[in-house]
Amino acid sequence: MDAGLENVVAAETVLSDVDGAAGRLVLRGHELNELAGRVSFEEVVHLLWSGFFKDLPEAAGMQAALGKARVEVFARLPTFPADLGAVEALRIGLAHIADGDDIEVALRLVAAGPVYTAAAARRMQGRAPVAPDPTLSHAADFLRMLTGIPANAPDAAAALDAYLVTIADHGLNASTFAARVVASTQAGLASATIAGLSALKGPLHGGAPGPVLDMIDAIGTPANAEPWIDAALTSGDRLMGFGHRVYRVRDPRADALKAAIVKLPKTTGRLAFAEAIESAALNKLAARHPTRKLETNVEFYTALLLEALQIPRAAFTCVFACGRLAGWIAHAREQLATGRLVRPQSVYVGPRTRAAA
Ligand code: ACO
Repeated sequence: MDAGLENVVAAETVLSDVDGAAGRLVLRGHELNELAGRVSFEEVVHLLWSGFFKDLPEAAGMQAALGKARVEVFARLPTFPADLGAVEALRIGLAHIADGDDIEVALRLVAAGPVYTAAAARRMQGRAPVAPDPTLSHAADFLRMLTGIPANAPDAAAALDAYLVTIADHGLNASTFAARVVASTQAGLASATIAGLSALKGPLHGGAPGPVLDMIDAIGTPANAEPWIDAALTSGDRLMGFGHRVYRVRDPRADALKAAIVKLPKTTGRLAFAEAIESAALNKLAARHPTRKLETNVEFYTALLLEALQIPRAAFTCVFACGRLAGWIAHAREQLATGRLVRPQSVYVGPRTRAAA
């Protein structure tokens, strides 16, 4: 038995290939560095969904289709209870989209990501929601709705676009597997994405970037990096933003995001501080785990990028979900096409009945 299923192959996919030994990520035949910072999120949604929907708009029409869907979902903005965190609020948003398997449902779910994330994050700050502008790109409108950064801030929109592309799909990670299991029951795309979001929320998966910033803040100065990390590891804590189930070398997404951060103004000092922490963390992890390679993962630079874009820490996991919605939906459709219910076995290790003894 493999409790973490690490050696189990549970799907064939045409969507993405994660090569953990070489540190490569390929999306439908394209290396990550051919896509991140070069093509828009809308184009990557089109790339991932091609062949899975009969009425998929042309690539050039995806921006307008998503813009229209953002307006539709904003018109149905739910009330988010005040005590909910951003992920819990986004889960409510996805849950009030009617289930189905067609392109309209898929577009509404991807549109719901930024619209409801922005509304939920602003509500946590006591601010009113900002209505979408369907003429903007998904990334530019997301920033506008979330932070009020105007649509004429092309550097910021380009950085968020590169982020959404970078994290759009990543093999059979925990949230994608959850989405595929639900899709295999024919429950529908809304149900599959809610399962994906719920799995993403945990700190061992997409919940790490907020705590990465908490760690950077707690360390405070470069000189404090080594003693702080030593103390954390000695008390059994995991360093957020390091280690990965598949990668045994540096996560290629970390460098794609670093390249996007470098292009933003006023990030040099913060980046240099973070790099000092990263280097101390890698040294300490290597010393404590000489036989298990623990490298920087996507979440470390996610935290720095989203911070540089002035996105509130509490919304980081939702912003991750906004990109990954594209991948969850593609995987759900791919799983549905196999027609096979996912239903593994367990081994009973509880008490035996008298009859069996
Ligand atoms: N900090 C300290 N020690 C670590 C870390 C870490 N970040 N990651 C792994 N280890 C240690 C474990 O404690 C374990 O030590 P042991 O053998 O002495 O018990 C050893 O390395 C192997 O760890 P596993 O639990 O087998 O690694 P696994 O593949 O299950 O975990 C995971 C991968 C969950 C990402 C892990 O590295 C981790 O917890 N990282 C921190 C959280 C994080 O960054 N999450 C985001 C991941 S990226 C993503 O999902 C988008």
